Amino acid sequence: MNIKPIVAGNWKMYKTLSEGVSFVGNIRKRILDKEKVKVIFCPPFNSLFSIVETLDGTSFGVGAQNAHHESQGAFTGEISVEMLKSMGVQYVIIGHSERRHIFGESDTWVNRKIHAVLDGGLIPIFCIGESLEDRQKNQTMEILHRQIKMGLDGLDFIDPEKIIIAYEPVWAIGTGETATRDQVAEAHESVKSILCEMFDEQSSSVPILYGGSVNEKNATELIETEGVDGFLIGGASLKEDSFCSIIAQVTTNYKG
Ligand code: 13P
Repeated sequence: MNIKPIVAGNWKMYKTLSEGVSFVGNIRKRILDKEKVKVIFCPPFNSLFSIVETLDGTSFGVGAQNAHHESQGAFTGEISVEMLKSMGVQYVIIGHSERRHIFGESDTWVNRKIHAVLDGGLIPIFCIGESLEDRQKNQTMEILHRQIKMGLDGLDFIDPEKIIIAYEPVWAIGTGETATRDQVAEAHESVKSILCEMFDEQSSSVPILYGGSVNEKNATELIETEGVDGFLIGGASLKEDSFCSIIAQVTTNYKG
C-alpha cells in the first residue's frame, strides 16, 4: 500500500482563537500541492471549531491534542471523543510525552483513550518515545515495545488508514536536539516489527511519523530516512514560513 506522507502541527498551548484562525487561513492560501501530503493542524481545544470551519472544503485535517475515554460524565476539564467529532475534528493525539510526563498519563490510560478514539471513528495519532535516561540505559527498544503493546492492547487488528503512530524521543522534544538518522531508522524499523508481531502484515503500512525538533533545516534529511512517513511538529509548526517549508520538503523528498 502506498502511504501518503503526513505533516501534523501540534500547537500545544499556543495561539489564541484569532491567531489560530488567521494562521490556518494564511497556510490554506499558500499550500497549493495538497495531493501529495496530508497536512493536519492540532490546535488547543478553544480554536478547534473555528479552525474546522475555516478549512471547510479543503483536504487539510484537524486534530485535538487529547480526549477522555468516557463518552460523558463528571470529569471537569475533560472533553470526549463524541464532542470532538461533533465539531468536525478527525484526529486526536494520544499519549503525547507531555501528557505522560507532566499529567501522569499511564499506558493503561493511553490504551483506554486509543480504544475510545477508534470506537468513535476518529484517527488516533498515537505517540511513543523513550526518555534520555531510557536511551542512556540502552532501554529504548524495550520502552517502545511496552508502550506499543500496552497502548494497542485489546485490538484485534489495525487499519493503516485509521491509525497513525508518532515516534517522539522525549529528549528531542523542544530541545533543538534531533535524533540521528540511524537512531530514527532503527526506532521506526522496530515499531514496524512490533506491529507486525502483534497484528498482520497489513500493519506494516501504518504511517510512522517522527517528532522532536523537526525544523526547516533538518526536514529533508529526516524525511529521506528509511521508515519515516512524515512529522509531528511542535515549535516549527507555529510559524508560517517554517511550517510551509517543511511541507514543501516532504512533498518533494518523500520516497515512500
Ligand atoms: P518540537 O518540534 O517543538 O520539538 O515538539 C515536538 C512535539 O512534541 C510534537 O508533538
